[in-house]
Order: sequence, then structure tokens, then C-alpha cells
Amino acid sequence: MSAAVSPQQLIAAAQSARSQAHAPYSNYFVGAAVLTKDGEIIQGCNVENASYGGTICAERVALTAAIAQGKRELRAIAVVTVDGASPCGLCRQVMIELGPEMDVYIGDDAGKFRSTTVRALLPDAFVG
Ligand code: THU
Repeated sequence: MSAAVSPQQLIAAAQSARSQAHAPYSNYFVGAAVLTKDGEIIQGCNVENASYGGTICAERVALTAAIAQGKRELRAIAVVTVDGASPCGLCRQVMIELGPEMDVYIGDDAGKFRSTTVRALLPDAFVG
């Protein structure tokens, strides 16, 4: 964790990104925020599609945006949902690929959150 950005601040950034979600099919709004080595925060939200398979999770939006911005050293990711749900399996696999050493903060819309790690969320991962 960067000294400059607290877990609470990263959760707040994910909560704010959540309000941008495009989720007309599930009405399940998800926000994510990635913390880079430089202390930058990159946000993402879920973006759904009428062709459901085209939906992208908030975590993968944030993670792929970080890569697109040239940020390859990722320290942490926060994800916020209404009920504090855990990231899906596909997002865990992408976390292992792009930020295997990240801390993961999982929060709800009341501001409560718990801390874990990518490695704890996806033990014995396939890494090619
Ligand atoms: N979703 C995420 O954004 N992240 C997850 O880890 C799980 C699910 C989104 C996808 C879809 O837009 C909605 O939540 C319901 O599945």
C-alpha cells in the first residue's frame, strides 16, 4: 500500500466510480479503483450490454485502463457493491495476471470493507 493512499481512500474512489456503472440489465452497480506504484488511482465500473456476454466487470475495466495508461506495477484494488460481494472468478484470474501482489479491499455501500489479497482469492492459480 502506498503511504499516500489509504485503504479507506481507495474504497472511497471505488464507491465514487460505482455511480458511473452502466447496469440497466442487472441493476447491480459495481465500482473499482486500482492503486498504482506511483500512488495514482484508476477507477472502473461495470459496463453491461444488451448482448449479455459483452458485459465487463468493474475490476477488469479499472485493471485494463491501468495497463492502457502504462501503469504496470499495481499495488491494490478496491471493489464496492451494495452488499460487499467478492470479485468473480474471471476478475480474479485477471488480477493474478496483472497484479498478483495486490491487496484487495472489498466494500459495501455503507462504507464497511474487508482486506484480502489476490493470492488468497485465487490459490493455485493457472499462470500459463
Ligand atoms: N460484476 C462486476 O462488476 N464485478 C464482479 O466481480 C462481479 C460482477 C458485475 C457484472 C454485471 O454487470 C453485474 O455485476 C451483475 O453480475
